[in-house]
Amino acid sequence: MYDFQPTSGGSKAELYRDLLSAAEGLTAGERDGIANMANLAALIWQFVPDLNWAGFYRLIGGELVLGPFCGKPACIRIPLGQGVCGTAAQTHETQLVEDVHAFPGHIACDAASRSELVVPVIRDGVVMAVIDLDSPLPARFDAEDAAGIEALAALAAGRI
Ligand code: SME
Repeated sequence: MYDFQPTSGGSKAELYRDLLSAAEGLTAGERDGIANMANLAALIWQFVPDLNWAGFYRLIGGELVLGPFCGKPACIRIPLGQGVCGTAAQTHETQLVEDVHAFPGHIACDAASRSELVVPVIRDGVVMAVIDLDSPLPARFDAEDAAGIEALAALAAGRI
């Protein structure tokens, strides 16, 4: 049984430290990338409040393909350069979107989503996947969330 818990009442920085340490423990020694992505998506879902979707899209043959996630069923394939996820994969840069309706080409998988954070998972300069977090709250994510999920993406890069 796994019982990882964020420190209750802790700061956002503590929350992401706890998340990273749980992610490190949960994926250490496991070679299967799908299993690791599934557990990482579940950890994000458990630790990060106010989300309606959290998970992975994998870059396969030049397009993003849905990977393990928590939340409602989502779009399966996203072309590189399209939507928030495709932009993160193409530019190799984190996309922090305060208002998804103001993002040109945003792909609405769940009508409840108002803000979004997408971080590329990069190994040896190659984008392997993106981590996508959606929130029903406008401007839910800030630079601390981006830094926390970037640290998780750096860990994931060697484990997926
Ligand atoms: N909103 C994303 C699509 C993926 S879903 O949010 C799960 C985008 O614009 O790329």
